[in-house]
Amino acid sequence: MTRSYRACTPLFVIVAAMAACTGRSGNSDQGAAMSGEANFTQAPWGISPDGDSVSIFTFTNPHGMEVRVTNYGGIIVSIKVPDRNGKFDDVVLGYDSLAGYVRNSPYFGAIVGRYGNRIAKGRFTLDGVTYRLATNNGPNALHGGLKGFDKVVWDAQTFKHDSEVGVVLTHTSPDGDQGYPGTLKASVTYTITPANEIRIEYDATTDKATPINLTQHSYFNLAGAGSGKILAQQVYINADRYTPVDSTLIPTGELAPVGGTPFDFRIPTAIGDRIGDDNHQLKFAGGYDHNFVLNRGADDTGLVVAAKVGDPLTGRILTVSTTQPGLQFYTGNFLDGTITGKGGHVHQKRDAFCLETQHYPDSPNHPNFPSAILRPGERYHTRTVFAFSVVKPQ
Ligand code: GLA
Repeated sequence: MTRSYRACTPLFVIVAAMAACTGRSGNSDQGAAMSGEANFTQAPWGISPDGDSVSIFTFTNPHGMEVRVTNYGGIIVSIKVPDRNGKFDDVVLGYDSLAGYVRNSPYFGAIVGRYGNRIAKGRFTLDGVTYRLATNNGPNALHGGLKGFDKVVWDAQTFKHDSEVGVVLTHTSPDGDQGYPGTLKASVTYTITPANEIRIEYDATTDKATPINLTQHSYFNLAGAGSGKILAQQVYINADRYTPVDSTLIPTGELAPVGGTPFDFRIPTAIGDRIGDDNHQLKFAGGYDHNFVLNRGADDTGLVVAAKVGDPLTGRILTVSTTQPGLQFYTGNFLDGTITGKGGHVHQKRDAFCLETQHYPDSPNHPNFPSAILRPGERYHTRTVFAFSVVKPQ
């Protein structure tokens, strides 16, 4: 299995395009010329289990890129972008209706909070007080608890500024929600730009010190949702180090070099090339489900390219840039054929990948990790950009 993905690599073009852009954020090839206007529509999308009305918003940019978002969980429901021949496909997994997301979703497209990823044993001590969180992932707390930000109905305000359209989602999480201290006022802004980007801005304030780690949990398949496995898609990650985990996927605290391991994505490599290697970290997770320490200067909080993924078949490229210190690369290891998603597609292991920009998992229990604590009077503000482009055949 290992060799076959290397062998089917007529993609020096993709690799070159990906390697050419490994520094600051930027989008190399915007594809089509401007042809229309940015626009949006809003429609009812059902009622949440709590009895709140849910809406779905459809945003289009001047190139025809279409993004649908619901205010249930702040979920990105679909992203339609062109391939190298101008054919549009939906490149994220999800459901056709609200009912699917409510019934059983592995965080498809959702805003994850208050704390994305795991906190060991659902416990942390802050300013001398030990807090206990809801545990929902073996012994650990995962993705904000039993009812995280992926399961609440956010207030939504759409906007249009020149050629940009989007929505500001706001939510107030009460003191003690899922065990977390402080009233947390959060907002997430999705902006769809004429450069075929989704810009995501996360903001929050609190009235008590509290951990916070908001992220976006889209499951991408650049060949199209439901088109099969992502093993041939090529990944570049801007990280010299990653955070190895124990068998419950909690970081050991070490920042280990990626060199000489299957975690070295500094040169674009097909996901399938090493995913089956005899490596205990891959075995713990059943594939990739690890946090990468993004390369940036100690005081650098600017936007850097975190990752690029290219699909040799369609020529689509996704570039993820962020102001965050970490990136979780997850290869859909827990998709097991029990989910029937959009268009009746049954999703199996490795049918998608996630690139979750974040603070490192379990940061509240690791003083050597960048702090994920927000204090009263401070403003939490992070940015992540998903940019779509294509490589044309040469
Ligand atoms: C993250 C986690 C994974 C898994 C998925 C959701 O990526 O790191 O272990 O929980 O979310 O299934």
